[in-house]
Amino acid sequence: MRGSWLAIVVLLLKVSLVAAQRPDTNYDEAKVGTLPLPELLRCADGTEVKDAETWRTRRRPEILKLFEEHMFGRTPGGRPAEMHFEVTSTKSDAVDGLAVRKEVTIHFTRRADGPKLDLLVYLPKQATKAPAFLGLNFSGNHAVDPDPAIKLNPGWFRNAPERGYVDNRATEKSRGAEASRWDIAAIVKRGYALVTACYTDLDPDFDDGFANGVQPLFYKPGQTKPAEDEWGSIGAWAWGMSRMLDYLETEPTIDAKRVAAIGHSRLGKTTLWAGAQDPRFALVISNNSGEGGAAISRRNYGETIAVLNRAFPHWFCDNYNRYSQDVAALPVDAHMLVALCAPRPVYIASAVEDQWADPRGEFLAGYYAEPVYKLFGKPGLGVSSDATPAIDQPLLTGTIGYHLRTGKHDVTSYDWQQYLTFADRHFKTK
Ligand code: GCU
Repeated sequence: MRGSWLAIVVLLLKVSLVAAQRPDTNYDEAKVGTLPLPELLRCADGTEVKDAETWRTRRRPEILKLFEEHMFGRTPGGRPAEMHFEVTSTKSDAVDGLAVRKEVTIHFTRRADGPKLDLLVYLPKQATKAPAFLGLNFSGNHAVDPDPAIKLNPGWFRNAPERGYVDNRATEKSRGAEASRWDIAAIVKRGYALVTACYTDLDPDFDDGFANGVQPLFYKPGQTKPAEDEWGSIGAWAWGMSRMLDYLETEPTIDAKRVAAIGHSRLGKTTLWAGAQDPRFALVISNNSGEGGAAISRRNYGETIAVLNRAFPHWFCDNYNRYSQDVAALPVDAHMLVALCAPRPVYIASAVEDQWADPRGEFLAGYYAEPVYKLFGKPGLGVSSDATPAIDQPLLTGTIGYHLRTGKHDVTSYDWQQYLTFADRHFKTK
């Protein structure tokens, strides 16, 4: 009884907190403002970028550095020297006999009880060198597929009793809780492998001053938290995606040169950052990533940097706080994040009922990234106007894909169908 009252009070507090955070959210296109975007094709010294070489050797490194310094924070290290892989289970007849399923632990140090990341891997039997999708999940590998043989994630989770997360732990009830977001059968049937892992293994998603998670692995002697320009949680999650790719490079049935990074929402922001930093990702998919991801920050529409920094102070680097009240001073914007992936294909997906993420702003990041693709002789989105495409009419033929799907902030089978078609175009045809 006492517990349920407490739950109601906590809920009311949360609702009023959210309302307090969002009183002045703008959803009126006429009021988005007219702030000019930072120039993509002009170097800091004024040189105009007219060819792919100047972009690659000069402007791209400049922009990457700006994102590190002002937004996501520098990633202090790469692959740890002591990192190793341990296969903990193999099932030879997963997905109706179409795939081999493995559970693999990436140990980041020599110690078995040190920081680690548990992978869930599906390898299609029909392919000898399969392309793959690689993405972090929110709720644990056991939530991606209800099979009770998959290890129940023992880590910290946000409470959601209706989905089986109680006392910040996953219970048996949470098996399959995220299955609708991972169309494993469709992926495997099309000849793709899937590797996923839970983002909280890398850094639990709450503000604890970076005591837990992988950050302490890289602290210098005496350091207790990341510096102002060093990574927050998104940086750590993106780093983890690169470590997952390190594993795929050792998997003989996978073609590690055809790996698509995918992520939804905060993990969509993460995926863009992973793709920007690690050129081994051959294709990058941002699903409903919104502010701090694909949405143009200079558009005042839906979520803003101020709200993002207040609600999730641990996601970005501390320097990002400078732009909460002054977005015009931010030396980068989302079109540059997309452009950092060029000439690799990028897919940006929005949803009609996800106005918080600013679907039009997400589309425009692709549109304004296009000049960089053109330097490489690639079409970008390949559209002739900046009008947002019609609902449920995906743009699949360019190097930048886009769709605005009917429905809510989510990953659906419809989204996966577009990603598979887009990946087929880039991975399976010459
Ligand atoms: C919140 C947050 C978004 C984020 C989303 C998510 O809505 O404001 O920026 O993308 O959570 O990750 O689910």
